[in-house]
Amino acid sequence: MNRIAIIGILLLMWACVPKGREYGKELYETKCANCHGLEGGGLHELYPPLKNSDYLREHQDELVCIIRYGLKTPIVVNGVTYQTSMPSQPMLSDVELANIINYISENFEPELEMVRIEDVEVQSSRCAK
Ligand code: HEC
Repeated sequence: MNRIAIIGILLLMWACVPKGREYGKELYETKCANCHGLEGGGLHELYPPLKNSDYLREHQDELVCIIRYGLKTPIVVNGVTYQTSMPSQPMLSDVELANIINYISENFEPELEMVRIEDVEVQSSRCAK
């Protein structure tokens, strides 16, 4: 095979690799932003923020469960009590959850640790359903 063909194939492979960051952004914007806002700022006392959220920082090891199974009991975020509940999103895969979490970590909450797909699996196995 000549060199040009090899370069062509490599370029094609590169173009097909899913771009992690954009995938996370797309998922966040379709699955979370309606409530939590495009910039993670939340909405008044209805939807809590993800940016600078003390709750998120303190409950990062529950984030997979929160997203997958939702939240029904009132919680306090940065001193504000939220009475509304968050719906479950059971159709999101481990890969999708990892992308969403890493998008939040990169864009809104640097103290939120980045996760691998394996971390999502482990966290998910601990969720109280
Ligand atoms: C229909 C609106 C809605 C959608 C969509 C939604 N949430 Fe929520 N979320 C809420 C509400 C309301 C609460 C507070 C729940 C409570 O008080 O029990 C919450 C709480 C949270 C919390 C804990 C509190 C905080 O602000 O740190 C996190 C983290 C969170 N959501 C992340 C997400 C992520 C990530 C997505 C997308 C996969 C998402 N949510 C989608 C409404 C929503």
